[in-house]
Amino acid sequence: MTVADLATFASPILAIETSCDETAAAIVVGRSVRSNVIASQIDLHAQWGGVVPEAAARAHVEQMLPVIAAAMQEASVGWSDLGAIAVTNRPGLVGALSIGLTTGKGLAFALGIPLLAVHHLEGHLSSVYADSPDLPFPHVALVVSGGHTELVQVSAPGEYRVLGETRDDAAGEAFDKSARLLGLPYPGGRALMELAELGHDRAYDLPKTRLDDPFEFSFSGLKTAMWRLVQHHGDQLNRPDAAAALQRAVLDQLARGVTAALSETGAKGLALVGGVAANQPLRARLAELAARHAATFAVPPLSLCTDNAAMIGLAASWRLARGETDNFSAEALPNAPLPSIEMPVHPV
Ligand code: KG4
Ligand code: ZN
Repeated sequence: MTVADLATFASPILAIETSCDETAAAIVVGRSVRSNVIASQIDLHAQWGGVVPEAAARAHVEQMLPVIAAAMQEASVGWSDLGAIAVTNRPGLVGALSIGLTTGKGLAFALGIPLLAVHHLEGHLSSVYADSPDLPFPHVALVVSGGHTELVQVSAPGEYRVLGETRDDAAGEAFDKSARLLGLPYPGGRALMELAELGHDRAYDLPKTRLDDPFEFSFSGLKTAMWRLVQHHGDQLNRPDAAAALQRAVLDQLARGVTAALSETGAKGLALVGGVAANQPLRARLAELAARHAATFAVPPLSLCTDNAAMIGLAASWRLARGETDNFSAEALPNAPLPSIEMPVHPV
């Protein structure tokens, strides 16, 4: 079975995502993204160097309805056309999640249409379904974002086995914290990637993180090593070289995990999803790795990598097609494992 064989929901779905610092709404029909509107709060949080939960929730309140209106207008969809509402309810900042969830419940109730509460990571995992019809099941997915770094075996939509995850920081955090040390603005992932293009990735030697479990990751040591490098070289630090060394160290670890996962599972598909999937060298490296394993490589367009509502609509589409809906007691949850998850499996 491939993504093209997925049964999906036929009517327009209004999807809402407010789990962190993006207020997002989208219209999805089947596997087709008709609109994908995102109001980013990056400028708001940049003054504090990170996301302030109370400020995020307040900004979601202000942006939510205009963003929904824009998504519907762009897709030329009216209230009576909608077949369902999909909304992220977990995991994330509770105050932020509550704004989207309350809005979604209110709309579903008023319109008399089904409500589906979606797990944020299932959204990221489903983000490849729009543009990668050839991606087979089972496949291996690397979820890399500001909050998560997980290797997942996706046997079918909703059937996940977490092979391994980070023991400490997420890959995006490693980028963001190092970017900050290099004086780049928050969130620094993209700026660090651009700076790294100007540098040599072997000019500085960052320590290799070696974990016994090939599916696990650890990035906190890199952050410390970067801090030492900045302290040691002071004004003499070649910032592009430091950025390139950091990026290589993160990519080396991610590639090692993915190689182990493809070998261990024998999966013939590889998906790269989450905000850090916007990183061009990572996309190129994993594409090459997939080719070496004769696996189909899938990565969403940039607009579906960082947080967005279209991916929530895509996850809802196949769930709704199976007849799943949620009732109005769905809650906003700060922490929640992927649905249908099994216990982490470690290689023998
Ligand atoms: O998925 P996302 O929007 O939010 C979370 O769910 O965390 O991911 C945001 C993360 C940030 O850490 C950001 O720096 C990182 O994705 N990111 C990048 C790039 N673009 C965004 N990291 C490396 N290279 C990029 N081009
Ligand atoms: Zn995310």
